[in-house]
Amino acid sequence: MLIRSVKAMEILDSRGLPTLRTRAVLDDGTVGVASIPSGASTGENEVVELRDGDPKRYGGKGVRRAVTNVNDTIAAAISGRDPRDQAGLDRFLIELDGTPNKARLGANAILGVSQAVACAAAAARKLPLYAYLGGSAANRLPVPMMNVINGGKHADSSLDFQEFMIVPHGAPTFAEALRYGAETFQVLRRLLHESGHSTAVGDEGGFAPKLRGHEEALEFIVAAIESAGFRPGEDVAIALDPAASSFYRDGKYHLTRSGLGDKTSDEITAIYKGWLDKYPIISIEDGLAENDWEGFRAHTVALGDKIQIVGDDILATNTRFIARAIEEKTCNAALIKLNQIGTVTETVEAVELCRKAGWGYVISHRSGETEDTFLADFAVAMSGGQIKTGSVCRGERIAKYNRLLEIEQELGEQALFGC
Ligand code: PGA
Ligand code: ZN
Repeated sequence: MLIRSVKAMEILDSRGLPTLRTRAVLDDGTVGVASIPSGASTGENEVVELRDGDPKRYGGKGVRRAVTNVNDTIAAAISGRDPRDQAGLDRFLIELDGTPNKARLGANAILGVSQAVACAAAAARKLPLYAYLGGSAANRLPVPMMNVINGGKHADSSLDFQEFMIVPHGAPTFAEALRYGAETFQVLRRLLHESGHSTAVGDEGGFAPKLRGHEEALEFIVAAIESAGFRPGEDVAIALDPAASSFYRDGKYHLTRSGLGDKTSDEITAIYKGWLDKYPIISIEDGLAENDWEGFRAHTVALGDKIQIVGDDILATNTRFIARAIEEKTCNAALIKLNQIGTVTETVEAVELCRKAGWGYVISHRSGETEDTFLADFAVAMSGGQIKTGSVCRGERIAKYNRLLEIEQELGEQALFGC
């Protein structure tokens, strides 16, 4: 089995911004295709997403240079390689790039090739992607964290915090979890509408109402869970991703939109702590900022024995930062995003490090997505029991949920659910 060719093209993501679709073809004609997502609240330490910077096209956001890097440099260099040697391919791509942050060829170019070759190799071996990447033990469907109210950089709402998610962790199967989430989402739409709020949605499909503040968002969500006939905290819980790096400047957290003023790390942690007694919150991601390692540690000391503390921007799916955070007890779980680090192999290494430390990990989409469903298979392959792939609305989010339904059905009796 050999790689015959790889070829990329410029397509659009769910925000209407350019991204890459990459197609790998093997010598027997088998094809693998991957489309790459893109973040809005990106961490400082993410690898480089190469954009053209040509103001005459897509406001500088075109990806023609990354496309050319795939079609010229990478295609010539990897033609004839064994597609089953994913680790060898990814190492080779990292060396071919030659920079510490994939800045020369672009992480979007490199990850597209890495994922497309994995898809082609799985197809050539006649295995579903989750089984190819995760082996025969890959049978655990993830609990979805569904982002039903959007704020921060994802919506023009009155909320500083980016994501208010429902987590149907009490469901017996993935299909039932999806139903719990979808029904709660529909009730939330009705409750917001009846209260005179907008039910237009943000980048990840959650509502983006102009509420009085974060607590009103939490109250709406609890009311929706109850009116949908579920028990808050038992059937459906809440997770937050404040994405605090986006409102952290000069050592303070500026809660400007919600009118709460400037806060220290300790003050923000105290707010979260107060909420744990009032709302069924089971997980907080990026409750503090990526450069606030000290604050993050104290935050985990204060809350980490009660709930999951997830590092996203602060860890950037990078084993260097995850190892430091394990050592310093900065969090107790990691968000895992393929395009924060740029190859399948490095992402798997990040997951393995979490697993060894007994950490939780959440396989995650980006706010700019495509209809690609790699993420659904990847979450099952990594068998951590958690995925974050948006609200129960918008085709690019639903595509992942529908793929997870398929996988659960295909696994039949073998399927497990949750962590
Ligand atoms: P992003 O947001 O994709 O815009 O970075 C997702 C997240 O912060 O988890
Ligand atoms: Zn995040």
